[in-house]
Amino acid sequence: MIERWRQELGRPVVVGHRGAMAEAPENTLASFQRAVELGADVVELDVHASADGVPVVIHDDTLERTTDGQGPVARLPLAALRALDAGSWFGPQFAGERVPTLDEALEWSRGRVPLAVEIKGSPCPTPDLVDAVVRALQRHAALERAIVIAFDHPALRLARELEPRLHCGVLYECRPVDAPALAKAAGAEALLPHWSFVTPEDVQAAHEAGLALQPWETSDPVVLERLFAAGVDGVASNRPDVARQVLARWQRG
Ligand code: G3P
Ligand code: CA
Repeated sequence: MIERWRQELGRPVVVGHRGAMAEAPENTLASFQRAVELGADVVELDVHASADGVPVVIHDDTLERTTDGQGPVARLPLAALRALDAGSWFGPQFAGERVPTLDEALEWSRGRVPLAVEIKGSPCPTPDLVDAVVRALQRHAALERAIVIAFDHPALRLARELEPRLHCGVLYECRPVDAPALAKAAGAEALLPHWSFVTPEDVQAAHEAGLALQPWETSDPVVLERLFAAGVDGVASNRPDVARQVLARWQRG
C-alpha cells in the first residue's frame, strides 16, 4: 500500500502521526483534519477496544493524558467514552472533541485521505479487537485505502488470516538481524522501524525483498533529510508541513 501511494505521488509519502499531534489533540477528528490541511498524504491513528468491544481511536490504554476521564480505556463502554472531552487538555479551542470510533474515522476519511490504522491493546491486542478492526475496514470498503500496522506482529498475522486482502506493516523499535523476515512472518508488505535505526542499507534490503520501508516519527528537518536521502518510501511526522517542506527542498536538490 505504501509502495502504491509512493508510486501515485511520485515521491515519499508523508504520514500525519496521530493526525497532526503537534498542532491539535492527537487522535481526534480535528487532528486528522489539521493533518490534511498541513499536507499529510496519509493519517495514522491508534485503536483500542472499549469495554463493550467497539474499536475506539486513542493512543494510551488509559484515559488521563488525553481526555478528562480516568482509568483504563477497556473498562468503559462506548457510551461513557463518548461522553469524555478529548480536546480541552490540548487547548480550549478544542473543547468538545470526542474520542472517535474507528467507524467514525473511516467514515470521515472516505474521499479525503487514506489511513494507517495501528492496532494497540494492553498488553497486546485481543483477537476480538483484531476481528473488529478487520470487520470495520470491510464494512467501510476501506481495504484499498488503509494499511493496518502494529508492534504486535501476531495480531497482524491474525488480521491477514481473517482478511487475506488486507495491507499490513510491521512496527518495531530496534535493528533486527533480518527485518524482511519479520514482515514475512506477519504477512506484511511494509517495514515501519523507528527512524533512529534506519540506514540506507536497511532501505535497500527492504526493497530487494519487495517491501516498503516507512520510519516513524520525526519532525526534525535534519533527520527527515537523512531519511529521504536513504531512500525511504515515507515517513510519519507530528508536523506534516515540516516533512513536506523538507521533502520539497530535498527533491529540488
Ligand atoms: O506510526 C507508528 C507510531 O505511531 C508508533 O508509535 O507510540 O506513536 O503509536 P506510537
Ligand atoms: Ca501509533
